[in-house]
Amino acid sequence: MASALARRQAFRLATQIRTFSSTPARNAAEVKRLGVIGAGQMGLGIALVAAQKAGVPVTLVDNSQASLDKGLAFADKLLAKDVSKNRITQEQADHVRSNLTSTTLIDQLAEVDFVIEAVPEIPKLKFDIFAKLAEICPQHVILATNTSSISITRIAAATTKDPKDTSTSSRVVSTHFMNPVPIQKGVEIISGLQTSAETLDTAITFCKAMGKIPSVSADSPGFLANRILMPYINEAVICLETGVGDRDSIDSIMKNGTNVPMGPLQLADFIGLDTCLAIMRVLHQETGDSKYRPSVLLAKMVNAGWLGKKSGKGFYDY
Ligand SMILES: NC(=O)c1ccc[n+]([C@@H]2O[C@H](COP(=O)([O-])OP(=O)(O)OC[C@H]3O[C@@H](n4cnc5c(N)ncnc54)[C@H](O)[C@@H]3O)[C@@H](O)[C@H]2O)c1
Repeated sequence: MASALARRQAFRLATQIRTFSSTPARNAAEVKRLGVIGAGQMGLGIALVAAQKAGVPVTLVDNSQASLDKGLAFADKLLAKDVSKNRITQEQADHVRSNLTSTTLIDQLAEVDFVIEAVPEIPKLKFDIFAKLAEICPQHVILATNTSSISITRIAAATTKDPKDTSTSSRVVSTHFMNPVPIQKGVEIISGLQTSAETLDTAITFCKAMGKIPSVSADSPGFLANRILMPYINEAVICLETGVGDRDSIDSIMKNGTNVPMGPLQLADFIGLDTCLAIMRVLHQETGDSKYRPSVLLAKMVNAGWLGKKSGKGFYDY
């Protein structure tokens, strides 16, 4: 009871701090250009939906030219499918495609109004990128992360060497899109302790402009979506590891018995086993609760490079 009370008080405190913060931020109507870092499955999806639904030009940054090429080829394929199904015209598809610019140079994000980071779920990688964004982006730019589990407060703290100076950290927020971005409507919006109310409002409004349904969660390990989803997936892998059921039985009973579109092992393959493992590690380390111990089999598969659909092999072959 005491810890529940403490959590409620901490949440209330965070909300109050946000309310009193006054750092100016742009509203979504003033987001004239979006920047996305990471052209993998999430970054590409975010860039495409922003270009298509919010109608903004997008600068897509990745440190791998191969990832950019693969991502844009996938965007072409998705747009061609929309045209073939008469969901959009060829002219509309061409216009959306012309809104996507790619580069390996992060410095080009000096020209955008809103950045969404979607690089792998590695804390130091994200901290370094946010420190760099703080250097290159002008004062009005909103800096959002698509992290699945890393504390927004810690990511925001990486933008300054002086924690008292919240001029940049107050503009950090999470827009946690769901996979696949063009299909899933929900977006989890999470404020760090430093995030201003204006930043939160801008993030919510911009996600709505992208056609999404935002919901707000507290900055707590795994937030809401993965706090609930990942232990479910992890438990399925433990059931496989310990022989409670084979792959097909596990996926079949959950798919056909709980009316979800796919079983947990197939879903893990679609998310990426490295991402699932990284999230379980954050839940385990940050709560210290053994109920979040990552499955040994999950870690072994990641060590083998079997990351699921994106690597061609996971619980299934692709
Ligand atoms: N996969 C999911 O289902 C899912 C869902 C919600 C959130 N997320 C989160 O979204 C983020 C991205 O996940 P993903 O599945 O798209 O990963 P991914 O592995 O598909 O893509 C990551 C991309 O980042 C690029 N990258 C790596 N280091 C970089 C750097 N220093 N600068 C620029 N680009 C760099 C890689 O080349 C790659 O293209 C993670 O934080 C993940 O936890 C993933």
